[in-house]
Amino acid sequence: MQTVTTIEALRAQVSAWRRQNLRIALVPTMGNLHAGHLKLVSTARQQADKVVVSIFVNPTQFGPNEDFERYPRTEAADQQQLATCHTDLLFLPTVETLYPRPSQTRISLPGLAALHCGQSRPGHFDGVALVVCKLLNMVQPDSLLMGEKDFQQLALIRQMVADLNIPVEVHGVATVREADGLAMSSRNGYLTTEQRQLAPRLYQALQTARDQIQNGQSSDQSIIAEQIATLTAAGFAVDYFSLSRSQDLLPATDTDTELVLLAAARLGNTRLIDNISFGR
Ligand code: PAF
Repeated sequence: MQTVTTIEALRAQVSAWRRQNLRIALVPTMGNLHAGHLKLVSTARQQADKVVVSIFVNPTQFGPNEDFERYPRTEAADQQQLATCHTDLLFLPTVETLYPRPSQTRISLPGLAALHCGQSRPGHFDGVALVVCKLLNMVQPDSLLMGEKDFQQLALIRQMVADLNIPVEVHGVATVREADGLAMSSRNGYLTTEQRQLAPRLYQALQTARDQIQNGQSSDQSIIAEQIATLTAAGFAVDYFSLSRSQDLLPATDTDTELVLLAAARLGNTRLIDNISFGR
């Protein structure tokens, strides 16, 4: 595996592959890699001849009181993991490389970005859209692989790619879970032992709500209210727990058939998100 830190070196390698007509996949990450990231890499490997992984803790997607400073940076361990799972190129830029000057360009998707996570993380999705757009321009991959755990982020990037006619196929990859159901996330490492034991209840609540909604047990809103109450009693501060339409993440109506339950909740200072897609 080759590691590059400059845009010039990245472009030189990618151009050489392109001259050989090789298909290139990009897996953007913020590092502190876990099995969920490695699944993205292995899926990318099935679709492309060369796999580029970026590790960049992107400051523009963190709010002023968020965890940018303490976000886990584990580059040496990440490099070892990537080398063993057939990554071809690791792009490891500094903040100065990606943002040599404050960016005056904004990429805003005001509809999607205002929903769900956007309500408690203003500006977050503008930062995500900007950095993913920059990475796509730098690598110009044939395919982009992102996790379904960040369902809203994936929807936003799909929309940006469509709106801006960016020539890349976007692939969502299923969430990888711990044995007890907790969605893998770099932020799980912030949890205390006690919080870690409670954390799988978020996914359990989503599963229970999904089952009850599919059975038509009672109204969608009362099913959701019950799960919010259960999570709150267990010690979660629920940010949102919403039934949405898969295609645009707007509130689902009785006639919608492709659905997603999206949830975010805090345990102490740690914000967990998860989702579950289903039909009815
Ligand atoms: O999901 C992430 O890790 C980040 O939001 C991403 C897509 C790498 C952009 O910084």
